[in-house]
Amino acid sequence: ALADPLKVMISGAPASGKGTQCELIKAKFGLVHISAGDLLRAEIAAGTENGKQAKEFMEKGQLVPDDIVVNMVKDRLLQSDAQEKGWLLDGYPRSYSQAMALETLDIRPDIFLLLDVPDELLVERVVGRRSDPVTGKIYHLKYSPPENEEIAARLTQRFDDTEEKVKLRLETYYSNVDSLLSTYDNVIVKVKGDTTVDEVFAQIDKLLESSLAKKAEKRLRP
Ligand code: AP5
Repeated sequence: ALADPLKVMISGAPASGKGTQCELIKAKFGLVHISAGDLLRAEIAAGTENGKQAKEFMEKGQLVPDDIVVNMVKDRLLQSDAQEKGWLLDGYPRSYSQAMALETLDIRPDIFLLLDVPDELLVERVVGRRSDPVTGKIYHLKYSPPENEEIAARLTQRFDDTEEKVKLRLETYYSNVDSLLSTYDNVIVKVKGDTTVDEVFAQIDKLLESSLAKKAEKRLRP
């Protein structure tokens, strides 16, 4: 394992493409992908008390309270695989208080990717999204259709992926994003997210390669 692995945060509005890009980043850079939304959905699927409470907020498009989310993400982040291979934190932190919870633990990213997609595109991306419960892969009926009939037949839709709910999720996003960005001012890079999946990844790939090069340089000349 690298002595000082890459640490990445990725943020952006609902359906801006975070999960899709994380699959590609993970495949190329071998980082441990930690998605706050996926961790919460796993709690719901397992029927835990935290999951039950979280679902009430997720259905309203609101942030799940810190007393559920903060320790859940922290525990995952501090596991040895993430510490050794580096991490890719998706959809966390999402508020000033969550950012401060990480600051107190001295947990900071090398780079903070902010996917920038106009609102008009987000609704279409949300309502067409499907996921494969077997592989976890994210599809879109129009933009990334399933490879065959067998996969198509088993795709599922998220409970919060309706036009009405994405509007609430967007409001929540815009009311929190500014307070969050100030914390990561020196490492934020805006990525244009309204082109194809591959074009978006090409931008991210370059940014992460240059982050890695900078870290290597620092190791040589501290
Ligand atoms: P979460 O699961 O994180 O949802 P989100 O932020 O709304 O983001 P999404 O997962 O909807 O979208 P994405 O950006 O990953 O897009 P994707 O790649 O799938 O959170 C859900 C809820 O959990 C929150 O509302 C909140 O209640 C709670 N929560 C989560 N984190 C929390 C936190 N830190 N604190 C408190 N509560 C929290 O892409 C979307 C679609 O577009 C797909 O169909 C995809 O195929 C397609 N697509 C992607 N890229 C492209 C492209 N370039 N061109 C065309 N189509 C594309």
